[in-house]
Amino acid sequence: MKNSTPDRPIALIVGASRGLGVAVATEYLRLGYEVYGTVRSDAHTPLHDLREAGSDGLHIERVDVTSTGEIAALHDRLAAHLRGRAIDVLFVVAGVSLAPQDARAIDMSDADIVTTMLTNAIAPLRVIEGLDDLVGPDATIAVMSSGQGSIGRNETGGFEVYRASKAALNQLMRSYAARRGTDRPLLLMAPGWVQTDMGGNGAPLTVSESIPALVATVEHQRGIPGLRYVDRHGEPIPW
Ligand SMILES: NC(=O)c1ccc[n+]([C@@H]2O[C@H](COP(=O)([O-])OP(=O)(O)OC[C@H]3O[C@@H](n4cnc5c(N)ncnc54)[C@H](OP(=O)(O)O)[C@@H]3O)[C@@H](O)[C@H]2O)c1
Repeated sequence: MKNSTPDRPIALIVGASRGLGVAVATEYLRLGYEVYGTVRSDAHTPLHDLREAGSDGLHIERVDVTSTGEIAALHDRLAAHLRGRAIDVLFVVAGVSLAPQDARAIDMSDADIVTTMLTNAIAPLRVIEGLDDLVGPDATIAVMSSGQGSIGRNETGGFEVYRASKAALNQLMRSYAARRGTDRPLLLMAPGWVQTDMGGNGAPLTVSESIPALVATVEHQRGIPGLRYVDRHGEPIPW
């Protein structure tokens, strides 16, 4: 791994191999951050392509967010590499959607339900709590939620377990904020429905129509403590 560049802010993007995550990493590099992006396997990914394209200040780390052991190992590698420098932005993007839109919750296998809930709802909290001492006291912590996590806006149904997992994520972040105190900006971000492997080709937004605006919104919230559930433009979403 290359040495850190002491004068650049640091962003850690968890789940940056492809899709929205690699776009978030790209955007933070464009903004001048030193970026740590995580993948979860040995596979070559679009994040590796980004590094090979000559992106200065991009480090690739590895973590499967469903593994507490891998989160602890990531913590120790980052601590050794950062040597007392704090992370300025922690953004957990990793997530899964394992069933089609019309699948009922009762149609999904136990294994897929557990994976969805563990990955989307529990794992972001494990990452945030597990890396807490590496994150600056006024750093921004963001998690990729979804408009589908809004209970108030669920008029159409669909994606039942995925929706439930993002609603659970939002609730867990509220519990975290209530317990810890909201001294940092804590952001639950909704990117819109975007063309990725998860979003599909028919999604109304391209990645470039979503992520630059979303990252600008996260940046705009820097230094403003409190938990907020907002869309890519910073508009509040009903819980
Ligand atoms: N696309 C949309 O329309 C949309 C809308 C609202 C919210 N979101 C949310 O945005 C986030 C990214 O979605 P996307 O559209 O970019 O999906 P995607 O193209 O399917 O990418 C999913 C990302 O999550 C990573 N990931 C999944 N499970 C993981 C695990 N156990 N450990 C570590 N990384 C893991 C994947 O890594 P691998 O490459 O190793 O599989 C990949 O980087 C998700 O949280 C999703 O729920 C997406």
